[in-house]
Amino acid sequence: MRISVIGCGYLGAVHAASMAELGHDVVGIDVDERKISSLSAGVAPFFEPGLPEILSTASASGRLTFTTDMSAAAIADVHFIAVGTPQKAGSYSADMTYVDAALDSLLPFLKAGDLVVGKSTVPVGTAARLAERVHEAAPGAELAWNPEFLREGFAVKDTISPDRLVYGVSDDAESGARSKALLDEVYAKAIGEGTPLVVTDYATAELVKVSANAFLATKISFINAIAEIAEVTGANVTELADAIGFDTRIGRRFLNAGIGFGGGCLPKDIRAFGARAEELGRGESLSFLKEVDAINLRRRQRVVDLVVELLGGQAFEKRVAVLGLAFKPDSDDIRDSPALDIAVQLNGLGADVLATDPEAIANAHAKHPQLVFVESLEDAVRDAEVVLLLTEWADYRRLVPDDIESLVAGKRIIDGRNVLDSQQWRSAGWDYRAMGRP
Ligand code: UGA
Repeated sequence: MRISVIGCGYLGAVHAASMAELGHDVVGIDVDERKISSLSAGVAPFFEPGLPEILSTASASGRLTFTTDMSAAAIADVHFIAVGTPQKAGSYSADMTYVDAALDSLLPFLKAGDLVVGKSTVPVGTAARLAERVHEAAPGAELAWNPEFLREGFAVKDTISPDRLVYGVSDDAESGARSKALLDEVYAKAIGEGTPLVVTDYATAELVKVSANAFLATKISFINAIAEIAEVTGANVTELADAIGFDTRIGRRFLNAGIGFGGGCLPKDIRAFGARAEELGRGESLSFLKEVDAINLRRRQRVVDLVVELLGGQAFEKRVAVLGLAFKPDSDDIRDSPALDIAVQLNGLGADVLATDPEAIANAHAKHPQLVFVESLEDAVRDAEVVLLLTEWADYRRLVPDDIESLVAGKRIIDGRNVLDSQQWRSAGWDYRAMGRP
């Protein structure tokens, strides 16, 4: 297939490279020249395991090119829109500027028989609106909505071997069948391997995506709410999660209590979903998502309060080590990162914060130049009165008291992700605190 991918961020760059890896001819298009020149040189502009490898094989094969020139889309038959839909400034709704701009600039290059495929996470109703614009500008061209379920850190695997495919296609039987046939060709490998496929209408496809993220966010906030109860009763939320997780109706995954969810997806998606429900006159149906959001944000405050408590009532001029800045391990993404938020809040209280992360320092520094960043864990913990483990990178999960004991000023540690062995730290004389665990 000849494919264009418009938007080369975390989603689009991985999608473009993965489509080329699958044997398609792909052009990735983005307005950001820095991103395009990096991708053209075969260098991933962000950290994503496996991406550098497929970028270089695909570029070497000649099947993958990148450009800022939208006219390059003219040679493709299938056009993926993979631009961001961030939270709008001063509102909970999604900012649709980039999706609309991407389609605007694509329309002049569409021809009859082309398929525009929306991948971005959008408010329900968007696909129907965009389909009209496609039909007006290019009679004979079609639109489908094909939400993306990739997880950062596993993005390449999730794109090449997704756990399910969802196509939202036109109600018109003939157009819908044509769109499905084209998408089946794009995803021939996954379909051949028996990947479950749901073919549905636009609204359902759009809602599948936001419902999935809302469910995951709710699951995390559920266990974090239980963690709050565990904290006042002496119960252990990790053992509780293990116990309820054995019930296959509940399942253990996404029941890790800690400092909560962040990233470029879950937080803004639950807010935009709630805002869209209000526009549709059904605000109360999703009003629980406000509580999900509030529980999530309270966990960050809980860590800040714990630090102050451990420091005897105030953090001012006290050295605090922050291990982890990315919103989750194996990513350099700091969008809405709970770890970075906690570091910023402590800095605001006058604490002497030294923060580190294996991959996210550059992004964190660009956003919060007021923070002090150090490259190594050892430099971060040196003379610290309290150590915070906030993103569970493999190296941090392996941390044992011996590694840092001789460096710190005070043997106090907050395990924001419940990944350390509490007994081990306590028996080494540390004041060890976790989230929802004694
Ligand atoms: C999420 C969804 O998991 C993907 O399915 C979806 O495609 C993607 O958003 C998207 O909309 O593009 P992602 O943002 O990469 O993927 O991250 P997750 O793995 O979902 O983690 C989100 C946050 O939840 C992280 O901050 C993580 O630390 C936190 N989390 C996760 C917990 O606090 N507890 C858990 O048990 C699991």
